[in-house]
Amino acid sequence: MLSRQIAETLRKHRTPFYLYDIDLLRQTLESVTSVAARYGYVIHYAIKANFDPHILELIKEYGLGVDCASGNEVRCAIEAGFDPSGIVYAGVGKRDHEIRYAIEQGIFAINAESLQEIEVIDSIASSCGKVQSIGLRVNPDIDPKTNKCIDTGQADSKFGISYEELVSRLEWIKSLKNIKVAGIHLHIGSQIRELHVFEYLCAKVNSIVEHLGALGLDFGFVDVGGGLGVNYDLPENEPVPNFASVFSIINSHLKVGGRPVHFEFGRAIVAQCGELITSVLFNKTTASGRKLVIVDASMTELIRPALYGAYHNIENITSRSAEHARYTIAGTACESTDIFDEGVTLPLTSRGDLLTIKSAGAYGMSMASRYNLHDLPAAVYSDSL
Ligand code: LLP
Repeated sequence: MLSRQIAETLRKHRTPFYLYDIDLLRQTLESVTSVAARYGYVIHYAIKANFDPHILELIKEYGLGVDCASGNEVRCAIEAGFDPSGIVYAGVGKRDHEIRYAIEQGIFAINAESLQEIEVIDSIASSCGKVQSIGLRVNPDIDPKTNKCIDTGQADSKFGISYEELVSRLEWIKSLKNIKVAGIHLHIGSQIRELHVFEYLCAKVNSIVEHLGALGLDFGFVDVGGGLGVNYDLPENEPVPNFASVFSIINSHLKVGGRPVHFEFGRAIVAQCGELITSVLFNKTTASGRKLVIVDASMTELIRPALYGAYHNIENITSRSAEHARYTIAGTACESTDIFDEGVTLPLTSRGDLLTIKSAGAYGMSMASRYNLHDLPAAVYSDSL
């Protein structure tokens, strides 16, 4: 863990801040791109996980495309220098001006999430004098066995089009002049650690591909989304996620007749390279004996524990004490749920100590807010320390 090696150097930066291990990010990118190349898989980076410019620069260097969830994310990717021909754009609620922008930029595909959206894309593309490639985002009704808050593929989810509805309107979709169905898209959820779930996904995709083919739909790519989870419990044991396993599962189970297969990884690429570094402000003990450590970060820098009950491993990187105690780590925000973790065993921890909240590179900074008028946290990169 980088922060432990350079703890004293970190004292010159005002906390809280994100610390990014650029070597680890490079190793992760090296791993995902080299294993994907074996199978000819196309990788898009889900920019919602982290849109830090330095991180984007590296991701671009490794040749990934981008998966976006808003017009501003498409703009951010294009301004960062990504080629529009490698950009996909999903989202249940795309505004007209966002659709128009994506069409004007000539992105690879808009992944459509309702029949009404397909109609709107067709009409906006017509007014631009263009034919827009779309992916049909199908709701596969699969339980991704993850935290309910980040599950997107079950039948009643707001994401994707129900397959029955899609099939019932297929002739209408085929008749539209300003869209071209370029592929199908599925994304079942995030932080998937039970990899056999990807086998169910393959079985579902295989039957959809075969059935749509039999119904005379001519399409190219199959985008199976992202979702590969990371080890939040013991990040040091698995700094680079196991891309080889997931690709091998997909390769053995997916039967899509040689069509290009796309992935959209966010967390797996950036989670482990980021840590949130925070200083201890105060200690106090509640009436029931709970030992609180109040740190200068809060849910405004990292909302995952407060929003999803998500676990992040926390360590004290400066205490030299041999004695340990169990603490509740609380943030500064004026919210009772602003607790990073309960019952954390740390060496004796006191004012001025630095703590690291690990695996915070994904959905950390990108979900930061200015609640309580907090400043947005800065970023410190290992290659410019
Ligand atoms: N593709 C689509 C269509 C998505 O909706 C997402 C994530 C991804 C790809 C990337 O998923 P990943 O590989 O990162 O699992 N804020 C939550 C996660 C929300 C994920 C939203 N969609 C969290 O902090 O856990």
